[in-house]
Amino acid sequence: MFDIKSVVRPNILGLEPYRCARDDFKVGILLDANENTKGPALTSLTEEEELLDLNRYPDPHQIVLKQQIVDFRNLSVNANKTAASEPISPDNLCLGVGSDESIDMLMRCCCTPGKDKILTCPPTYGMYSICATVNDVDIAKVPLLFPGFQIDVESIISTIKGDSTIKLIYLTSPGNPTGQLIKVIDIIKILEVQWNGFVVVDEAYIDFTESESSASESMCTLVNQYPNLVVLQTLSKSFGLAGIRLGITYSSKELASYLNAMKYPYNISSLTANIATRATGTETGLGVMRKFVDHVTKQRQWVLENLQKLDGIGKSIGGFDSNFLLLEILDSEGKPSNHVAEKLYTKLATENQVVVRFRGKELNCTGCLRISIGSEEESATLVETFRKCLKEVRQ
Ligand SMILES: Cc1ncc(COP(=O)(O)O)c(C=O)c1O
Repeated sequence: MFDIKSVVRPNILGLEPYRCARDDFKVGILLDANENTKGPALTSLTEEEELLDLNRYPDPHQIVLKQQIVDFRNLSVNANKTAASEPISPDNLCLGVGSDESIDMLMRCCCTPGKDKILTCPPTYGMYSICATVNDVDIAKVPLLFPGFQIDVESIISTIKGDSTIKLIYLTSPGNPTGQLIKVIDIIKILEVQWNGFVVVDEAYIDFTESESSASESMCTLVNQYPNLVVLQTLSKSFGLAGIRLGITYSSKELASYLNAMKYPYNISSLTANIATRATGTETGLGVMRKFVDHVTKQRQWVLENLQKLDGIGKSIGGFDSNFLLLEILDSEGKPSNHVAEKLYTKLATENQVVVRFRGKELNCTGCLRISIGSEEESATLVETFRKCLKEVRQ
């Protein structure tokens, strides 16, 4: 049986969350939090800003926003969810300053510095290792299988069974920079291993998956069924709100209660909560998000087809489950080349103001550029600029 109390650090298990007078009393003359009761130091405010009471600390719990998020995600239920498993509710959530905060918070919750480890599957998102380094946590690495970029289930299982200091496995699905959805059935095999640690599935790109039933691939509705599952999502990608910094952690209610006790009480600003509530509302944002996703999936195909007509563009080695492509750049002999890819990357950015990402130094990504999918106009310029620059860098 999974024992959460042996994974969460003892100092967190016993943590009393910060409390303020506003938890008990919300109306009247509020002189309890050392705020400026005159209002914000601004010469003018829009009507909407006026309603946000920006001189006051924000709501630490965000229940309305959380309810909207779970209502939306409960609409599409992962095929692996059993009928007996409860739908997710606000108690399963902890909101953070982007999923970057969630990635870090989980490490601080479960890994004792200088003692515990996380497991990652390269090539993967860079923040797991940055947070691990900051927290003085070691990393066990089990590379993604190549080609295909799926997880190596057997190696992951033998690694966690052989090392009881591994407390968290970070899986990115769909992957970055791979753009490949990880098979849910493989993740479930790991969830079912007798092992005291959490499987963290980072679903930053889940809404872009190629699958017909896109959101139903999300594992977030399985957190009441698997107490060792944590799912991360963000409003930075499909919702187009990277600037507001809102990340969502889905987990068992018990883990969510520890995470909520740990977080800075006012980590989600009133401005962020306001925009996030509009974006996740049926009338005000979800339709727009779905249109964005539809646009990106069509545009992704157009960009791929048109770039692949050019000499010097090789295979797309990633999947099509995200808002970017991972493409090989070839030298004059037709081989993927870091030298040519890096030259192209620099030329695109410095002489043409077209900025993509060089990923050639990531495991099994030799010669690769990662290209985000932009608007139709941006895509047309991208293809033309590639045409021009590729010729020059491959001479
Ligand atoms: C896989 C993955 N996880 C998390 C993030 C960070 O998301 P956020 O903007 O919510 O911090 C990114 C951003 O690129 C990402 O690629």
